Amino acid sequence: MAESITPLISKEKISTRIRELGAMINQDYANSPVMAVCILKGGVIFFADLVRELTMPVTCEFLGTSSYGSATESSGEVKLTLDITHPIEGKNILIFEDIIDTGLTLKYIKKLLMARNPASIKIATLLFKPESLQVSDIKPDYCGFEIGKEFVIGYGLDYDGLYRQLPYVGVFKK
Ligand code: IMP
Repeated sequence: MAESITPLISKEKISTRIRELGAMINQDYANSPVMAVCILKGGVIFFADLVRELTMPVTCEFLGTSSYGSATESSGEVKLTLDITHPIEGKNILIFEDIIDTGLTLKYIKKLLMARNPASIKIATLLFKPESLQVSDIKPDYCGFEIGKEFVIGYGLDYDGLYRQLPYVGVFKK
């Protein structure tokens, strides 16, 4: 069967939700400085759109991980491919992720960053698959949309490196 993409969340819905998330974050942090940590590569578009809604002092950092597995299923084995470049001790960290699926990637990242003694760590994710979650201690503080177990692409999310540039989120079938 040929590959297919079925639109799931439109560009307009995403931008409305990003503005809502920005307002929530601005309210919660008041004017406290935030270190915004983008998880590459999938988080980059969500990060770029959402940081522009923030009104407190924001510094931007990038962290890369790769997880072994097939193109559509994560194996749970996570490796750091790029570290952030500044100390985080005493800082309020806000992580920007494209999707929480099993939660294993964020569990790994949170443990790594917690060891560096930040003041706080919160998680913002565009998408969350609650039915796929395999860890109890990871929950998004700011979530764009909850979705089912389907494999999705677009707005930063890829299949085999492709489709990240789509302005909407779609369900991908091989
Ligand atoms: P985890 O299972 O929560 O550790 O998710 C690990 C990573 O797998 C995410 O950051 C995404 O890059 C990728 N991923 C999980 N589900 C999807 C999906 O539906 N589409 C594209 N990538 C996904």
